[in-house]
Amino acid sequence: MGHPTSTMKVISKISEMQEISKEIHKKNISIGFVPTMGALHKGHISLIDIAKKHSRFVVVSIFVNPTQFGPKEDFNKYPRTLTKDLELLSEKKIDILFAPTDKEMYPKGYGTYIDVPDFSNKLCGKSRPTHFKGVCTIVAKLFNIVSPDIAVFGEKDAQQVVILKKMIKDLNFPTKIITGQIIREPNGLAMSSRNKYLTDKQKQNASIIYKTLRETANKINKGERNIPKLKKFIKDGILTKMTHSSPSENSLKIDYIEIINKNNLQQPKTLKGECLIAVAVWYGKTRLIDNITVNC
Ligand code: PAF
Repeated sequence: MGHPTSTMKVISKISEMQEISKEIHKKNISIGFVPTMGALHKGHISLIDIAKKHSRFVVVSIFVNPTQFGPKEDFNKYPRTLTKDLELLSEKKIDILFAPTDKEMYPKGYGTYIDVPDFSNKLCGKSRPTHFKGVCTIVAKLFNIVSPDIAVFGEKDAQQVVILKKMIKDLNFPTKIITGQIIREPNGLAMSSRNKYLTDKQKQNASIIYKTLRETANKINKGERNIPKLKKFIKDGILTKMTHSSPSENSLKIDYIEIINKNNLQQPKTLKGECLIAVAVWYGKTRLIDNITVNC
């Protein structure tokens, strides 16, 4: 077996990445892109597999983007596992890892930000008011650097997907967004780099979130359409079961529970079409999000 690292190039300079993308496009080869913040897990790997299916040349970025973290959020303690990430990526035989420094992406005097206000102030945006501005800004910058034909994002961040699709449409980016379904632990917990903050016991209890979402989807599938009643079912389910099974495992606080139209994040009067049940929960100091789609 040859050493797989030899096929993957690691780049940290914007100009070098742009030069390579230009050369690849000249050869009429399509570029698939998976932007990440590292601490890679099976969810990221599934997105890379999708990118590989759609394009001959695959670029992955790792950049813990400071502008998408609020001042009191976990930017400093966000897991950084570059050595392990490099191993995983070279096994996947991607073409380029783009891993710039903060200074390369936001040099002194940086001052341009992209905002999609209509979609950014709800769900996660309520408690993270500047988050999506940071996400849109970095993704737009990365698209201008990598020039991807397609970019793959995970459906766990359902709001992020809606916002980025809107940004791409409004700003005429030539990149197509493809989404990858949520990858879960065997117990149902949605994979996330932030799961590293949880103890084993917390990981076990946090599976109640998805279990409750599935039970709620079943209720909708059986005909229940009363949104306040469904939201109460989720709230009671998560609070009662998670607290009951671990009274000593830190505090539990619901950030939001929403049942909305999946494509425009609007609260419908009656559930119709593709509906998204989305929740965010504070489990101790860890904020967990999850969602499920139901066809109503
Ligand atoms: O989903 C993420 O990991 C991040 O929000 C992204 C898209 C890489 C931007 O920093």
